[in-house]
Amino acid sequence: KYYTERYRPQFHFSPEANWMNDPNGMVYYDGEYHLFYQYHPNGITWGPMHWGHAVSKDLVHWEHLHIALKPDEHGTIFSGSAVVDWNDTSGFFNGKSGLVAIFTHADLYPESERPRQRQSIAYSQDNGRTWMKYEGNPVLVDETITDFRDPKVFWHTETKNWIMILAAGQTVRLYTSVDLKTWEFASEFGEEHGSHEGVWECPDLFELEIDGDQNNKKWVLFLSIGDDPTYEEGSRTQYFIGDFDGKTFTNNHSPDTILWIDRGRDNYAGVSWSDVPIEDGRRIYVGWMSNWRYANVTPTKEWRSAMTIPRVLSLKTLENGVHLVQTPVKELQTIRENPITITNKTIIPNDNLLSDLKGNAFEIVVEFELGGAHEFGFKVCKSDSAETIIGYNVEKKKLFLDRTKSGDSSFNNSFAGIHDGELVPKDNKVKLHIFVDWSSVEVFGNDGELVITDLIFPHENSQDLEMYAKGGNVIINSLELYTLKSTWS
Ligand code: FRU
Repeated sequence: KYYTERYRPQFHFSPEANWMNDPNGMVYYDGEYHLFYQYHPNGITWGPMHWGHAVSKDLVHWEHLHIALKPDEHGTIFSGSAVVDWNDTSGFFNGKSGLVAIFTHADLYPESERPRQRQSIAYSQDNGRTWMKYEGNPVLVDETITDFRDPKVFWHTETKNWIMILAAGQTVRLYTSVDLKTWEFASEFGEEHGSHEGVWECPDLFELEIDGDQNNKKWVLFLSIGDDPTYEEGSRTQYFIGDFDGKTFTNNHSPDTILWIDRGRDNYAGVSWSDVPIEDGRRIYVGWMSNWRYANVTPTKEWRSAMTIPRVLSLKTLENGVHLVQTPVKELQTIRENPITITNKTIIPNDNLLSDLKGNAFEIVVEFELGGAHEFGFKVCKSDSAETIIGYNVEKKKLFLDRTKSGDSSFNNSFAGIHDGELVPKDNKVKLHIFVDWSSVEVFGNDGELVITDLIFPHENSQDLEMYAKGGNVIINSLELYTLKSTWS
């Protein structure tokens, strides 16, 4: 049977077997969303990296394809991106268009065993089914920098250049090119900006409208920071908002401002899809739903790790300025079934309105109106021995996810914990949008102003659902609950 193992996500992307980390090479071309990923085909822990590959027409149902890129004489294949070369700037496509992947070749210096990271390219003339590595690889080398990886490339219309942003230890570097083969240094960003609590990895740079206004845009820089044992959070992803002129990124915030894309522990190395049609207009991304702190030891046997659900990114003006907002892609609505709706209902302590329901793959869309309760929310994947709490603390104005008793956490002592972030009620209301999928919980607060993404490993019988209030009542203005169909059957 397919995708029925213990903990196996039913509507998230996970590899058929073996180890996966970062999403790579995401590009839309000819009706297909491509998703490549860091893949170790011969084991369920990190090892010599390949690019696994899958395609989807709707971002929800995925078809696994053959491994796209395998290690070669230049090394193993680390993270990177892919673009459509519409005008054959590379000359790989006989005047037509095609796909070019830009990635890091990681090898060891023969003498010193110091890792060497150099950027290379490969191209596909058949919609990503087969790939040719460019004979001039590597195309970008700077052997003075040890950590020099994860190139994200995009076409910059105004300057008619390809732009590459890549991570260089504790900064990002930008390069420009006209043909994807030769790259010229343009600028460096990041020294003393944002968080440096780990090695910088997996940057992305893209422009977004503010409040849906075409004439008011800003550039967003995504930047993941690796696991440093000094800090309890492990690996996580920050973002910057600023301007980009084709060469230089300028941060609009003060250098010491730190903005996180997620308040949970399991959303890392996320980058966005390239070449989504202009008519669609969305900036869509997925992150790797794990954390380097324990990624290699999570309790799955056949495969390891999944991606987050695909999410749309936008910028929104909130009380304290412009912030990144994330919402689930609308395509996920096609797998909804068994709807339950509740409207204008008061929740009182010790009365569980959802006591008849059981499930491990479901979605809840809810708007609460604050009453006398000082805390309220849901307990999911619950049994006598385990529960995961998605709660709102009224006094602290905090949304939290409590996985201290969520099931198996024995594999790492920093796994059990409570993760929270500030969420200010709007007109006395709090909105939550929740996705639970056997071994993960994703919570979007107030239309994606705050997101918490966390793995859980519930006990086998932990399937109950509870809605709770503490210290008083809370009103449900509206609630929709759906079980979600498997996208793998
Ligand atoms: C991020 C990362 C990247 C690197 C890849 C190796 O998770 O460390 O910087 O390219 O994973 O698998």
